[in-house]
Parts: sequence; structure tokens; C-alpha cells
Amino acid sequence: MGFLDEKVEDYLTQLMPIQDPFLKNLQQEGIDNDIPIIQVPSLRLIQLLLQTIKPKIIIEVGTAIGFSTIWLAKAFPKATIHTIERKPKMIEKAKENIGKAALTDRIILHEGDAIDILPTLPQAEFIFIDAAKGKYEEFFHLAEPLLKDRGIFVFDNVLFRGFVADLEIVKTKPMLRKIRKFNDFIASYDKLETSFVPIGDGLVIACKVEESNG
Ligand SMILES: C[S@@+](CC[C@H](N)C(=O)[O-])C[C@H]1O[C@@H](n2cnc3c(N)ncnc32)[C@H](O)[C@@H]1O
Repeated sequence: MGFLDEKVEDYLTQLMPIQDPFLKNLQQEGIDNDIPIIQVPSLRLIQLLLQTIKPKIIIEVGTAIGFSTIWLAKAFPKATIHTIERKPKMIEKAKENIGKAALTDRIILHEGDAIDILPTLPQAEFIFIDAAKGKYEEFFHLAEPLLKDRGIFVFDNVLFRGFVADLEIVKTKPMLRKIRKFNDFIASYDKLETSFVPIGDGLVIACKVEESNG
């Protein structure tokens, strides 16, 4: 769930339907089982951005049932995706779905906590962080050395249904305070060009540069 007016969300969804029947079923599996998967308009924006760099290696933190993982693997047939998941139930479902999609040769599912696994991964042109929201800063510090120069970072849910902007609600929820702290941190991090995009549940999109222009 995002923070846009429901009518606008429905309108955007029907403008950009999922064409691939396998991904459509996977999205439905996520919805039916209350598994928080990324919203399609956000994925489409990511896919569009990545057309400019055509990543060969992608790192994803937070696989769940493999919806975004399989989407990215299909969108970039030359890419290998290292995806990390720690919940055994999700790992089981993701393995099943990656197998059904016949993508086991290009999707490497790392089982365990991203905090332990990130330091073992190769460098990547794209890093997508979509796991425990309270740990974004920690994930960032471990992932940053893995991002190639001019590579792209995306963090999902950085506006968390819009609650992040409401100080009265933020006061009562430690997780929202952590997201705000992360947003402040990344906004002023000078080795990245960063933008906050109010699409889906809010994305941070950042590019690694020598020195930011502002
Ligand atoms: C929002 S879901 C991922 C959705 C997926 N990216 C998609 O859009 O299809 C977040 C997942 O991250 C996993 N997760 C949370 N913290 C993690 C950690 N520290 N290490 C590995 N996985 C983690 C959760 O178990 C959950 O399945």
C-alpha cells in the first residue's frame, strides 16, 4: 500500500498493467498472502532507469516470494541477480518461484541476514534495498562499497504510506523515526546524487558520483 489517493493508484495500475502472466500470478500470490511486494509503477520506473546502464550484476536485499527479483531478471536477460532473504518460509516460496520461472542460472538466492551476507557479494551496477526498514542505514554502509562508480541505489518504502512526513505519528513509531533519520542521512551524503520520488510507497533513487552537484 502506498499513500496516493486510491483512485489515482487504480488509474495508474490500469494504465500500466503487468503483461507477463507469470509475474501477474506472482503479484496475486503476494496480494493474497499479505506479502509486501513492490508496487508496479515503482518497478517500472526502476526498469526504465536501468535501461541506461543495463546492469550485469544486481544486488537485492529482501527477496520475499521473488516478485521483484524475477521481474528484474526478465527485464535484464544479461544480468545475474544476487538476492538475500532471511525468512525460511519466504526462501522456500522464492526458490519454488525462481525454479518455475526457469531462472535458477541467473538468480542466486542467498539465505540469511543481509548484514552477514552483503560483505561477501561482488560489485554491482544496481543495488535494490527492500528489507527491514529500520536497518536501511546499516544496509547502506555495507552495500556502498559494492556499488560500482555511476551505479544506482534504490531504497523502497522511504515515505512509508506518507506517515514519515507526519511528526505526530512519527513520535509514536520508532521504525518511522529510523526511516526519517535514514532519509536525512542519505539526502546529505556527498558521494551520491540523490532524489526522493513519491511513487508507490516512496523511493530513494541515488547514483554514485565522485562529488555531488548539490
Ligand atoms: C518488502 S519484502 C521484499 C519484497 C520484494 N523485494 C518484492 O518487491 O517482491 C521484504 C523482505 O525482506 C526480508 N528481510 C527483512 N530484513 C532482512 C534482513 N536483514 N536480511 C535478509 N532479508 C531480510 C523479509 O523477510 C521480507 O521477506
